[in-house]
Amino acid sequence: MDGAFAAVAPDTFPTVAPVVFREAMARLGAAVHIITTGGPAGRTGLTATAVCSVSDMPATLLVCINRRAQSIGILTENRVLCVNTLHAGQESIANYFAKSTADKASAFDSPDWTTLSTGSPVLESAVVALDCRIVEWRAVATHIVIYAAVEGVHNGPPGPALVYHDRAYKHV
Ligand SMILES: Cc1cc2nc3c(=O)[nH]c(=O)nc-3n(C[C@H](O)[C@H](O)[C@H](O)COP(=O)(O)O)c2cc1C
Repeated sequence: MDGAFAAVAPDTFPTVAPVVFREAMARLGAAVHIITTGGPAGRTGLTATAVCSVSDMPATLLVCINRRAQSIGILTENRVLCVNTLHAGQESIANYFAKSTADKASAFDSPDWTTLSTGSPVLESAVVALDCRIVEWRAVATHIVIYAAVEGVHNGPPGPALVYHDRAYKHV
């Protein structure tokens, strides 16, 4: 294991149909995050649940973003991102950032948004915000898998988080 992505299987495998896979994934509860970025390419963000911890040394997260998301070009150009984990009750923020047509850059003018060291927008009222530099990415099928090194943490007000489960928002 040398630390780089390595292909270990034939190019294609038979897999279950997309509808079967999506139905299975709906049964998994997942925290709802706003992935933001800010830098020379501009500021934007999108709602995402495909985030997980990889390692605590160095502190590393994995984020999966659809290639068709408008944010992906800005994110990969800025090479920074912040994972803002939403509080229970922040459904309206999740819905706003889930729309490609929303005026996302101007949403960050609200005083609830600040920055840490990377310049990516940080939601002060999020449960937690993880400010990251992108260290690696790879296109896998429909998505770009991004590895990001966590450079700063902002702990927001404690309390229940917003979770997406069975195609609905829930408070956990
Ligand atoms: C609950 C929820 C979870 C989502 N999770 C992801 C995700 O993990 N990755 C992703 O690429 N899109 C995800 N989306 C969809 C994006 O938020 C959506 O495509 C958005 O319009 C992308 O914005 P953009 O085109 O401005 O980048 C999710 C949407 C919702 C409502």
